[in-house]
Amino acid sequence: MRPRRIGAAITLGLLLAGLPPAVTQGADRAPERGAGERVAAAKGCGVCHALPGEPRGKKPGPAFLAPAPPQEASEVLRRLWNHIPGMRQYFLARGLAWPVISVPEMADLLTFLGMQPGREHAPNLDRGRVLLVQKGCLKCHALAGEGGRVAPDLVRFREYGNPVPLAAFLWNKAPGMLERIDKSGIPFPVFQEGDMGDLLGFLGALVDVSR
Ligand code: HEC
Ligand code: HEC
Repeated sequence: MRPRRIGAAITLGLLLAGLPPAVTQGADRAPERGAGERVAAAKGCGVCHALPGEPRGKKPGPAFLAPAPPQEASEVLRRLWNHIPGMRQYFLARGLAWPVISVPEMADLLTFLGMQPGREHAPNLDRGRVLLVQKGCLKCHALAGEGGRVAPDLVRFREYGNPVPLAAFLWNKAPGMLERIDKSGIPFPVFQEGDMGDLLGFLGALVDVSR
């Protein structure tokens, strides 16, 4: 499944050029549930999810609760991640543009969805390492120089300890990533409860070592 040569080299160049600068801008106020609800409405989530106070009606997605049950940040990220391909289908089918979500918007949105900082379980690093391989991440990504070549080396990303910039980045890049996943036949990696925390814990520890 290794990418081949010229195309891959060009793609990698483009991908690296597209890496986000320091993705920490906009943290001038604490993320807020109400602002997150407005982000959800503005990005079209309310087409399929009843927003707080609305009747569910025929909307196909679960209603958003206010307040959502508090959860680890990595859990909220996991729920969002697993949902990306389904949402993409919908946007494609209707010819809608994929909604771009900025880092501050994502902070609000994840807060609205229940993210509670400081709740994170101690990651099982061995399990995180196994998941990284099992979920096929290294078919595309290198890890400290080893592995796939179509996607950036995962140690280049510095913010595994903070799911907000990661969520925003993955969300915004999802269309491109999914296209590649479709072409390569690698199944979209779906995560079970607890997986995301372990995986990010492992990547974060590795980045710390390689700094
Ligand atoms: C086309 C309809 C549709 C749109 C638009 C949509 N969703 Fe969903 N969503 C669903 C459906 C259906 C499910 C349940 C099945 C699934 O997970 O795909 C779901 C599930 C979810 C879940 C997981 C359920 C849970 O509580 O863990 C989250 C989180 C979520 N959506 C967030 C969002 C956000 C945020 C947006 C807007 C950026 C959004 N959705 C837009 C249809 C949609
Ligand atoms: C089919 C190929 C493919 C697979 C499989 C894949 N990715 Fe990616 N990933 C990409 C591409 C391509 C990008 C770059 C997107 C862009 O910049 O437009 C990317 C970007 C990323 C980034 C941001 C990297 C950076 O330095 O900015 C992270 C983090 C990431 N992926 C994590 C994962 C994890 C974790 C897995 C496994 C669960 C995974 N990816 C599986 C193709 C893949």
